[in-house]
Amino acid sequence: MGRGDLTPESIVRLEAGAVVLLDQRRLPDEELELRCESAAEVAEAIRTLAVRGAPAIGVAAAYGYALAAERGEDLDAAYRVLAESRPTAVNLVWALEEMRADPTPQRARDLHLAEVDRCRCMGTHASALFGPGTKALTHCNAGGLATGGYGSAVGALRRAWEDGLLAHVWVDETRPLLQGSRLTAWELDALGIPHAVIADSAAAHLMSRGEVDCVVTGADRIAANGDAANKIGTYGLAVAAAHHGLPFYVVAPTSTIDPATPTGSQIPIEERDGEELNTRFAAWNPAFDVTPAELITAIVTEEGVHRAPYADSLPRVVHA
Ligand code: MRU
Repeated sequence: MGRGDLTPESIVRLEAGAVVLLDQRRLPDEELELRCESAAEVAEAIRTLAVRGAPAIGVAAAYGYALAAERGEDLDAAYRVLAESRPTAVNLVWALEEMRADPTPQRARDLHLAEVDRCRCMGTHASALFGPGTKALTHCNAGGLATGGYGSAVGALRRAWEDGLLAHVWVDETRPLLQGSRLTAWELDALGIPHAVIADSAAAHLMSRGEVDCVVTGADRIAANGDAANKIGTYGLAVAAAHHGLPFYVVAPTSTIDPATPTGSQIPIEERDGEELNTRFAAWNPAFDVTPAELITAIVTEEGVHRAPYADSLPRVVHA
């Protein structure tokens, strides 16, 4: 394990009477834990991004549901408040559905560790896509913080680094909440992986200068046809990558695939408070966008590397 290996339980865990999470709003300046003592408090932590990233919010919701069961809360109300905390990542509802039949702490813990295992498998599959000396660009944070451990897109990068294939990572700062410059850079720094933060608007320029070999991102929801929702700005990166003939890879567990949503246009896109963007003037703040399947070179899940047509190649079944 490298010095930067965040343990799953340091990111989120269930203790006696509380879900405890590393407060991602305070990183990288402070490593503080937040205690949530009811399902509603876990939902508030998810809504305010104390815990964020599609798989991690699913895991936090699973622990929140188990906590609600232990406390004797109304489980239908607990399900609703958790499910409604954020709309785009399908992992949230997926995890809650997985918990319904067995709302125990052990079930939540198993689900958590299964997500981390999925990340390690994805890393192995994704690394095989990298050539020697790869300079990769990533957006937002799809690291251990976002998955409950190891990471999806960052898991692919760390595995490629261990395999001696990765030379450098360009980290989009990821406006407006800076998940790239605060969280991904913090994780890469701890792992000892060479990287540099760039303004989001610098990505196409770097591509034009031959400084990027591939783009690797996570996803919050992948529709049945392979359209993938991810942090706002991902779609623009995919357009720029296509223009420059660069591969664009999405790395996400099967818990992020939503076979019930046929195409990206049916994915609900969260709109957050404009004040996250600008406190003085009117602002519009969509948190996600949808990258059409035709711009995605490959989708990597724990089951392997999937290529178009995704309606045929994507796995449909999740075993938590
Ligand atoms: O708003 P956030 O920080 O929850 O957005 C997270 C992302 O967009 C991640 O890229 C996505 O959840 C994949 S995380 C493995």
